[in-house]
Amino acid sequence: MKYGYFDEEQKEYVITRPDTPAPWANYLGSPDYGAIISNNAGGYSFVKSGANGRILRYHFNSDDTPGRYLYIRDDASGDYWSASWQPVGKDLAVYKNECRHGTAYTKITAEYQGITSEALYYVPLNKTYEVWRLRLQNTSQTERKLSAFGYAEFTNDSNYEQDQINLQYTLFITKTYFKNNKILQTINQNELKDKEGSNGKERFFGCVGTEVTSYNGDKTAFLGSYRTYGNPIAVEKGHCDNVLNYNSNSCGALHSSFTLQPGETKEIVYILGRYNDKDSDEILKAYEDPGVTEKEIQELKDYWHGKLNNFQVNTPSSEFNSMINTWNAYQCFITFIWSRAASFIYCGQRNGYGYRDTVQDIQGIIHLDPAMAKERIRFMLSAQVDNGGGLPLVKYDHNAGNEDTPDDYSYVQATGHPAYRADDALWLFPTILKYIGESGDTGFLKEVIPYANKEEDTVYGHLKRAIRFSMERQGDHKMPAGLHADWNDCLRLGKKGESTFVAFQLYYAMSIIKDFAKDQKDSEYIEYINKVQGELFDTIQSLCWEDDRYIRGIKEDGQVIGSKKDAEASMWLNPQSWAVISGLADREQGEAALESVHRELNTPYGVRLMAPSFVDHAFPGALAILFNPSTKENGGIFSQPQGWIILAESLMGHGNRAFEYFKGSSPAMQNDHAEIRVLEPYVHGQFTESTDSPFEGRSHVHWLTGTASTVMVGCVEGILGMRPDLYGLRIAPSIPSDWKEITIKKVFRGKSLNIRVENKDGAEGGYKEMYLNGVRQEDNYIVENSLKEENEILLVM
Ligand code: NOJ
Repeated sequence: MKYGYFDEEQKEYVITRPDTPAPWANYLGSPDYGAIISNNAGGYSFVKSGANGRILRYHFNSDDTPGRYLYIRDDASGDYWSASWQPVGKDLAVYKNECRHGTAYTKITAEYQGITSEALYYVPLNKTYEVWRLRLQNTSQTERKLSAFGYAEFTNDSNYEQDQINLQYTLFITKTYFKNNKILQTINQNELKDKEGSNGKERFFGCVGTEVTSYNGDKTAFLGSYRTYGNPIAVEKGHCDNVLNYNSNSCGALHSSFTLQPGETKEIVYILGRYNDKDSDEILKAYEDPGVTEKEIQELKDYWHGKLNNFQVNTPSSEFNSMINTWNAYQCFITFIWSRAASFIYCGQRNGYGYRDTVQDIQGIIHLDPAMAKERIRFMLSAQVDNGGGLPLVKYDHNAGNEDTPDDYSYVQATGHPAYRADDALWLFPTILKYIGESGDTGFLKEVIPYANKEEDTVYGHLKRAIRFSMERQGDHKMPAGLHADWNDCLRLGKKGESTFVAFQLYYAMSIIKDFAKDQKDSEYIEYINKVQGELFDTIQSLCWEDDRYIRGIKEDGQVIGSKKDAEASMWLNPQSWAVISGLADREQGEAALESVHRELNTPYGVRLMAPSFVDHAFPGALAILFNPSTKENGGIFSQPQGWIILAESLMGHGNRAFEYFKGSSPAMQNDHAEIRVLEPYVHGQFTESTDSPFEGRSHVHWLTGTASTVMVGCVEGILGMRPDLYGLRIAPSIPSDWKEITIKKVFRGKSLNIRVENKDGAEGGYKEMYLNGVRQEDNYIVENSLKEENEILLVM
């Protein structure tokens, strides 16, 4: 079943049926003022912290209520509906609704009984409040007497848990007032009285463009007892009773009544934010100018589309185009900016950036905005400990140079992370390589950045210490020790256990640092790396290769994990893809390992993380057993590794396979059977249920997932073959053999590239010749200084 389509022109996903299998969300604003909104206007808002700065209430794991509700009432008949299908939920046979999720705005239109409504929701660029613009038009032939009600349900406490649970306290601390066309809410008002500023304890919900006829500041007065958001008593009666909150739940409910002649339009702008009386009046005043909202929406589009336009592709697959040009790209920015802060699944409790997640999130935006990426790389380097390891959790108020580390009890207590993880700092290598490749900024290697706890070093020095961290922590077989965990949160190999995945990461990191060392003319270090990398190669090849697969690791007690002989979890995905990505596997091993993946792990919805799922034979430390079979790490289709297998197949020149995996796991490809996927068809989730599940194909944990960046890299670097390095760009597409032509518009180091790939002979990898501005090149590599401002590139496959 299909609930919507991609509008590539507008860069919007258009939901044409509002009864989607789950709330399909969009992100507005930024964590400075964050708003999440569903296609039925459900969702919440917060200032700075999803957990501690919550201002709009939302019922998690429930029915997508409450939300940013706009009710419309026909005052002649008493009939009423909402600008979004829910909460009133009119019969879809007579109520038409469309929701357009765009880049940082959402527009919901409806048509009912001769009235069209358009509710436009956004947070203006760099502002810390939100706008709901309601436009109503009378499309009938008669004069209509109408009422509009705007409803915002404030939390009683900025901490969302306090608001939901500690009712003996939070029910008795707020008050509301009606002042100048707005409801003002205060928290702990008397305590605030003599203090400067409102300490974030005043919120407002006001409107411009109409006089408020009646209002409520008390939720129950608006909804009525034993009623729902679908039939508030105030809307039913046609007016509020001007009841303010004292010892109950606050809300902002603003009612206005007016008449619309046939064809006439009315616009009301509602604004919500965490501001005091005076400041909110000023904000509202700015919207008396009727052009402001259009200008702000244009600013948002210019900002986001400007970024996305730095890389645009045209292939025969419209789904691939929509994902790479708009939705996967936009999701990369959202995960980059929001980390795992807030969604309909994440309540905002994680008080910082996960090291590995964030360093990987950066990779997804490097080709679109290298400068933005650089800033975050700096930040993450400043969260590396002087011993070379990464802080598993980097607090939002991270204070470089002064932080405690996992060696300190205080850090463990504050973050809940008991020890270093084996992989964290190793993610820096591909990320920094990609950044320098995209920007050409080799000077970055010399930039001095502090460590998290003490001392400072150049970026190059930071990377050397990351290598040292792994070299100093080895298991009995001289592979990197498993420490607390590697990428897989559910795999405890033991402190001295050894992870094949981390070994590949380290091997790859060594290749990357060798290139950096050449650039830095550090021959002594190159010699060292050549030696240790050779040793690591021999170790991995002798211990981890088993016929047609690489094992997953060796436990502290010597038990091999992921052996062909194992009754369960005998085949693991990541060691196979990373054997290729790291450059360690030879051609034959790569072919065999990837073939085993296809044979044993592939499903119609993507590739399983491992198989068979743990049921009866989990070893101590195989925490995946906690999950149902075919779920998450227990043999589910974990989404993040899909990007790695797409990349690995592409690196092998297997364009058909790479695209097969893209298709299997891509949200856009599931658009026509969205009832199976359930999750938004325009964003990746964390995982998809696999073969053992009665709900095979159902996906979970929307939006904030490392999948955004890995799949982006798999497609851009892998399938499309954009492979920048320190000095230029290699173009090496691995595309499905039935793609006869693709074009790519890419900004590379400030220059425009118009790339055309011709594939008349139906190849899936490799190239015959390449031309830059009409000149045949020696191979498929472009040196930066041969580029003009505008460049025409033709690659013949
Ligand atoms: C989710 C975590 O956020 C990510 O860091 C981890 O790598 C995966 N789970 C796999 O366990």
